[in-house]
Amino acid sequence: MRIIRIFDTTLRDGEQSPGASMNVDEKIQIAKQLVRLGVDIIEAGFPMASDGDFEAVKRIANEVKGATIAGLARAKEADIKRAYEAVKDASKKRIHTFHSTSDIHLKYQFRVTREEALKRSVEMVKYARSLVNDVEFSPMDATRTELPYLIDVVTAVIEAGASTVNIPDTVGYATPTEFGSMIRAIKEKIGDTAVISVHCHNDLGLAVANSLAAILSGAGQVECTINGIGERAGNCSMEEIVMNLATRKDFYQAATNINTKEIIRTSRLLTRITGIPVQPNKAIVGANAFAHESGIHQDGLLKEKMTYEIIKPEDVGLKQTELVLGKHSGRHAFKARLKELGYDLSPEELESAFVKFKHLADQKKNIFDEDIETLVSEEFSKIPEGYSLVNLSVSSGMKVEPRSGVAMKVKGKTVRKTAKGDGPVDATYKAIALITKTKSKLLKFEVKSITGGTDALGEVIVSLEEKGRTVRGHGADTDIIVAAAKAYINALNKLAMRKKTA
Ligand code: KIV
Ligand code: ZN
Repeated sequence: MRIIRIFDTTLRDGEQSPGASMNVDEKIQIAKQLVRLGVDIIEAGFPMASDGDFEAVKRIANEVKGATIAGLARAKEADIKRAYEAVKDASKKRIHTFHSTSDIHLKYQFRVTREEALKRSVEMVKYARSLVNDVEFSPMDATRTELPYLIDVVTAVIEAGASTVNIPDTVGYATPTEFGSMIRAIKEKIGDTAVISVHCHNDLGLAVANSLAAILSGAGQVECTINGIGERAGNCSMEEIVMNLATRKDFYQAATNINTKEIIRTSRLLTRITGIPVQPNKAIVGANAFAHESGIHQDGLLKEKMTYEIIKPEDVGLKQTELVLGKHSGRHAFKARLKELGYDLSPEELESAFVKFKHLADQKKNIFDEDIETLVSEEFSKIPEGYSLVNLSVSSGMKVEPRSGVAMKVKGKTVRKTAKGDGPVDATYKAIALITKTKSKLLKFEVKSITGGTDALGEVIVSLEEKGRTVRGHGADTDIIVAAAKAYINALNKLAMRKKTA
């Protein structure tokens, strides 16, 4: 069976989703999970974009083994050099360089002729090949490029040494039939001289359909993101493309190297880290994707699963929540469970997560896998030298004016403030704003419980905006006000970190 390579760009195009910025440790955590998931190539970032991006790609290249690590670069010598410096230590490395080819881009944005664009693309692919063996080239806005010219560019860059040619539907404009024909025309021209990749955006909701049409026409690589996050309406969703191929193998006659049982965990990890929720009715990873509400359906399912179920929930890693640990569980049991869940923590991270686990076990009788995953992702999301919560006490009720006293560590010193508000969260946020003197605006506040019961770990996600920049913060605790405070502080730390790297 034909194997379709999965090129994951969650850490690059996915990070271009508003508010999806991640710190380096969070990116490493995602990259390690992508390896467990079985992706073939991880596009770890755009090293020329910022020092933070460069550092993230470099650390992933050094620390994450098992997939090819790609760095993105414009068709410019300085970009390609920087991408090379970032990926050079990876055991399998790729430089992905791109240049626009549509007349719209060439005329209005770059002000160069088709000939100049082609020449530059060829020169830059040659330059990239002088540094690494694995070079991918993307003619940006390919789907609005005149086909004969697109084919000229593609054949020229293959001759110059590109082993993968990626055809991006940059603005999500293509239709499946049209895109399928375009890929077929390229395939007829280039044969097996290079792998054809596709990179579809979801502006018209067709990113997955377009990618599937391309596979039927000979594409051998799909670029996608977890949960379909990405610029504007997002990219082709990894879980959807993979499960289409897995479920309809009979039709597509193609498979991937993905371990589908890791899909749910990967999706949840990304949500926890970025704070970008998944819509409940989203295919494969939405909360309702396997929930059967109608009586007729439930009746059918009880008689025979096949009646209404085309994918087994366990095939994507969805399992009944299991009771795993409690108050009396020791370090070994905690470490062993983390290992089973696929987390590999340093001794310091393990110790810190264990202290949190014990604290949680004092408040909550039963600790579930989801609770542990939340604790661990908090551990990875720590931002050095940022603000941290030391103490919090609130008074509120029906006839009491809500008031909150907050103590926080700010640059090593403990600062305390008290504030009144419309409710306990409002009062707490006002106290935190007084301590941090933040000028940010709260855009969104969401609360959910991680597991069932009134002792459940509550999770709060907030979005903050400052000077046009949006960040999301995440906090979890059995006390929902403390979770809200942690989420706000996490977002403020992200804003502070962005200022440092801007
Ligand atoms: O959408 C796009 O065209 C891209 C390229 C850089 C591949 O993201
Ligand atoms: Zn893109």
